Amino acid sequence: MKTLQGIRACVFDAYGTLFDFASAAARCPGVPDEQRAALSTLWRDKQLQYTWLRSLQGLHADFWQVTADALDFALESLGLADPGLRDQLLHLYQTLQAFPEVAETLRQLRAAGFKTAILSNGTPSMLDAAIEASGLQGLFDKVLSVEAVRVFKTHPKVYQYALQELGLRAEQISFQSSNGWDAYAASAFGMRVVWCNRYGQRPERLPGAPDHVIGNLAQLPPLLGPVAA
Ligand code: LAC
Repeated sequence: MKTLQGIRACVFDAYGTLFDFASAAARCPGVPDEQRAALSTLWRDKQLQYTWLRSLQGLHADFWQVTADALDFALESLGLADPGLRDQLLHLYQTLQAFPEVAETLRQLRAAGFKTAILSNGTPSMLDAAIEASGLQGLFDKVLSVEAVRVFKTHPKVYQYALQELGLRAEQISFQSSNGWDAYAASAFGMRVVWCNRYGQRPERLPGAPDHVIGNLAQLPPLLGPVAA
């Protein structure tokens, strides 16, 4: 196995990579069991579509609004529209749980000398809330939100913003995302990329190519050579 050389920072996508977005519908008693999976999928798909469409249109709204708009679409589509249920789901989305291996992986990477950061569509307050709810405080050098550039992934400005904030070149960053489209875009931008393919997605037919594909983040540390000087 060829390890990634020259890496100084590990940068992570948030939703689906560190935080389990399905844990919102899963923990919401008001969602019928047989509709949990459909709600999670439709909510997520619509949320992402709205990020891409708004970025194409140049009509940015922050990820909290996009997430709420997507939830409204999903609830109405599934015949679940109800203000109380909507509020519960949005609250649960703010306090998503981290995947079980995340904290230990971050500790290992930091102990090995890598900088750690989040690069996410999420707003700063959404990211702070998720970090706190999942007990990951103190495990990131930087928490970077696209709100600084007011356009969503996969606009290159987003990946460029991470370089600027970390003071690194693209090839000194190992970027981890569970979203294939995000992983391919970061690769096309020039970062080293480890696609954390938690959901068994098929390879994308898009520019870029992840350097490695793993099933969860515990498999990341052995893929990295020693931290670059
Ligand atoms: C994020 C979404 C794409 O955290 O998962 O940026």
